[in-house]
Amino acid sequence: MTFEIKERDAAGRLCQFTTKHGNVTTPNLLPVINPNKMMVTPKEMKKRFGTDILITNSYIIYKNPELKKKALESGVHALIDFDGSIMTDSGTFQSYVYGDVHLDPIEIVQFQRDIGSDIGTILDVFGTPGQTKEVAEQGVQETIERAKKSISHKGEMLLACPVQGSVYPQLREYCARQLSALSADFFPIGGVVPLMENQRYSDLVRCILAAKQGLDPSKPVHLFGAGHPLIFSLAVALGCDFFDSSAYAKYANDGRMIFQWGTEKFDDLTELPCSCPICTKYSKEELTELDAKERTLQIALHNLYVSFTELKIIRIAISEGWLWKLVEQRASTNPFLSDALRVLREPDHLQWLEQH
Ligand code: GUN
Ligand code: ZN
Repeated sequence: MTFEIKERDAAGRLCQFTTKHGNVTTPNLLPVINPNKMMVTPKEMKKRFGTDILITNSYIIYKNPELKKKALESGVHALIDFDGSIMTDSGTFQSYVYGDVHLDPIEIVQFQRDIGSDIGTILDVFGTPGQTKEVAEQGVQETIERAKKSISHKGEMLLACPVQGSVYPQLREYCARQLSALSADFFPIGGVVPLMENQRYSDLVRCILAAKQGLDPSKPVHLFGAGHPLIFSLAVALGCDFFDSSAYAKYANDGRMIFQWGTEKFDDLTELPCSCPICTKYSKEELTELDAKERTLQIALHNLYVSFTELKIIRIAISEGWLWKLVEQRASTNPFLSDALRVLREPDHLQWLEQH
């Protein structure tokens, strides 16, 4: 792996990231591919959005005998028919959502290595925002232990070790420091999905800032589960390099369209305020007349166009030095995001940001 910083603005950076399966320019978005039901195939993502990297879930593959056999025989790239870089997640999120995941932390790392994942993820312990500090500490300690044990099994695979620590900045920073001291390759910031779902952007900012203060600045940072373009620019300005999106499919299934300023219910729109290829091809009425499955697919594609476009804007903003202006512009459309910007005016944070 190489991770070369080319340009900077605020604490954001524009980088070239290289795996065995090619180059990726960051900041970038990893679309989530569910190997059981691909709404948009990786091939189509490559063609439409120039997708060079995506993320799929090794736990879903591991627990399905047919997928597991095929992945072990032919590799994960053949399984989902994609020749770019593939990151795999480990089952941590399923364990958080469903609570019934019985997995050996080492076995799932070995499995990701054996199916040829470019970036595998340890089975971290998901820290929820409602945890007491003591419980969050135990989760962090267990995550660090699992990271230490997992490292020797990674082989040629890059290993992602998520920073946990719930909403406790000191714990986040501690976790980040401990993980950075290991030879991990990739640092997701984990446990933030519930914060994003509840628009708790101020807490999200505190989590990112604390993690970044403990992380090795030469390694890529991923905001785990962040798929809404509304927060991309702010997260990038704080030093996040990667996002992953299942939001495009989840929102589409729910009849919702993603825009740079937020989300709108398709049924509530009188017209389509977008000029992506989907919204150019169909009027609101024409989309309404499609059968439900086809309409969902078209909305998912629109959601991806909007998300990838926001990343293009962000990369240009970094190169040209107006990332902060973009952050303020995006924040002006959402009161929770505006509040989150205020966190950065606290003296410690301002100083950190100014250093960058
Ligand atoms: N997906 C969303 N959040 C998380 C997290 O905290 N850990 C892992 N492994 N995957 C995630
Ligand atoms: Zn559109």
